[in-house]
This record gives sequence, structure tokens and C-alpha cells, in this order.
Amino acid sequence: MRKVLITGITGFAGSHLAEWVLSNQKDVEVYGTYRVRSRMENIQDILSEIHLYECELKDPHSVSEMIKKIKPDVIFHLAAQSFVPTSWNSPGETLIANQVGQLNLFEAVLKHDLDCRIQIACSSEEYGQVYPDEVPIKEENPLRPLSPYAVSKVGQDYLGYQYHKSYGLKVFRTRTFNHTGPRRGESFVTSNFAKQIAEIEKGNNPPVIYVGNLKAKRDFTDVRDVVRAYWLAVEKGVPGEVYNIASGVTYTIEEMLHKLLRMSKAEIEIRQDPGRMRPSDVDILLGNYEKFHKQTGWKPEIPFDQTLQDLLDYWRAR
Ligand code: GDD
Repeated sequence: MRKVLITGITGFAGSHLAEWVLSNQKDVEVYGTYRVRSRMENIQDILSEIHLYECELKDPHSVSEMIKKIKPDVIFHLAAQSFVPTSWNSPGETLIANQVGQLNLFEAVLKHDLDCRIQIACSSEEYGQVYPDEVPIKEENPLRPLSPYAVSKVGQDYLGYQYHKSYGLKVFRTRTFNHTGPRRGESFVTSNFAKQIAEIEKGNNPPVIYVGNLKAKRDFTDVRDVVRAYWLAVEKGVPGEVYNIASGVTYTIEEMLHKLLRMSKAEIEIRQDPGRMRPSDVDILLGNYEKFHKQTGWKPEIPFDQTLQDLLDYWRAR
């Protein structure tokens, strides 16, 4: 039996990964960490099939005890402060949660002398300021982070590199571009717009949708494709390496909004909300995932329209 530990199992990517592992892998036991305030609704359907462990990743003692007890063979480190705007309000908290949280995990693995494979959730936000001649973005592109969140992910990324080089930890760095699908937190743009449309359809809100910067371009992959990529990264990746996980297609946020609006019969007015604008926004993210494809054979399978339809239906059903 292989023990698979997912930090942040109650979250968006974590819950999808747990489901994927349970449905697609044999001879594995799935463990997950949660905090007292974690909401369990994402993992309701699989509660009886997983082992949950309360752990505060910011606390080295808590992490060390958890690792000693579980002794995982594989770790997917998905717990994080993952919302970019929160990082401007709480930059220190974002750095501590993301970088110190991961550091505590690495230190615990070293302390208990575990030979385990560790995937870390790095981000396309690390590329930040990208110039037109740099797309589609490859892994060697300079990192020019534009938010405290992005800086926190650069730190996680380089800690992964450094702990691999210094101590031989088997770290797999996945730089994932935007991903979405059912259960996406409602602050993130796709889910936020889909939820607003569903609320209008239900008659709960007047027919106005509030938006921020519609000019930004993003490369979206379905979360169900992304979690399959995480598994392949630890199975077939090279330890210490970094891999882009992307779809290779980019849409403006405006194009994405109109895709969603076309899926609804409601007549909806679009209104800009200045509170949704950011101090600095990443203009374009468009990923080149060739390196990961060559190494693992992975490619995205779920079309973006399907992802958006599933997301909208998710909010309609709630
Ligand atoms: N959240 C939000 N809400 N974003 C909006 C809105 C709105 O009402 N209107 C426009 N946007 C724009 C943002 O300015 C940004 O350019 C884009 O939509 C996407 O915003 P988010 O969905 O919040 O995601 P993100 O791109 O900032 O970050 C996501 O992707 C990263 C990978 O590139 C997150 O999932 C990160 O955790 C992840 O690392």
C-alpha cells in the first residue's frame, strides 16, 4: 500500500486530486491535512475513503508530528493562500502560509528521513510581467512577479529547487496556469462570474454582472486535467525539475465572460466594479507545456467550453 498525502485536501485542487486518485489508482491510501476552520463540503462524498489529519502547516511541530505519524510515500502539497488579491491585503500572511508552510514540510521529511516524492504547486503567476515576444511561455522565461502571492510562489519554487540540490529531496515543481471547474472558490474569476449568472437566473440578484479587468489574458485548464498532471509529475517527472501545466490557449477575461453569458438565457448588463481592479495585474499568461508533454505524455483533454458549462451548472444546482 502506498500512502498518498494531500495537503489542502479540503480545497479545490486537493479534493479533485483525492477523487482522481481513489478512482484511478490501486493499492493506495489517501491521507489529507485540514485545519479546524476548513470546510468539508468539497470532500463530503469521499469522507469514508480518506484519512484526515488536523495540521497547521505554519507550525513546525504540527507538521513534524503529522509526517512522523503518516510516513507518506508521496506528498502533493496543495495547501496555500491561493487568491492573488488577498496577498495585497495580507502580504506577510501569504508569505508565511506559502513559503514557511512548505519549508516546514520539507524539514519534517528530512527530520524523519523519509524517501518520498513531493509535488509542489508553483504558479504561472511567477512569470508575472511577460513581454509579447515571450509567449507561449517556457520554463526558462525570467520570473518577474507582480504580486506578493507571485513572490511567495517564486519562493516555494526555489525552495523546491534548493532542497533538491542540497539534500536530494525528490521534489517535482509544477507551474500550473489558471485552472477551474466545479467547486472552484467563488472569489476566482470564472467561478465568480458563473455564480453571479446563476444567482441572476434564480432571481436572487438584479440582472447586472460586476467585473474587474476584462483585458487580462489567461490560459485555463480544467482542474480534472490538472490533477491528472500532478499524478504524472510524481510518477514520470524528473526530481528537481520544473514543468509548466497549461492548455496552450489564451482567452481575454472578456471572451471568457461572453462564453458564460452565451450559456444563459438571461439578459445581463455588464458593469465594472473599481473595487475589483488590482494594483498591478498580469497582462497575459499563455503557457508552453511541451516539456511536460515530452516527459509524461500529458495533454489537456477537457475543452474549455465544457469546463465553463460544468462550472455554471455547479452554481445553478446550489
Ligand atoms: N477574481 C476576479 N474577480 N478576477 C477578475 C474579475 C473579478 O471580478 N474581473 C476580472 N478579473 C481578472 C483578474 O484581474 C485577473 O486578470 C483574471 O481575471 C484572473 O483572476 P483570478 O481568477 O483571481 O486568478 P489569477 O489569475 O489572479 O490567479 C489564479 O491563477 C494562478 C495561476 O496563474 C489563481 O488560481 C492562483 O492561485 C494561480 O496560481
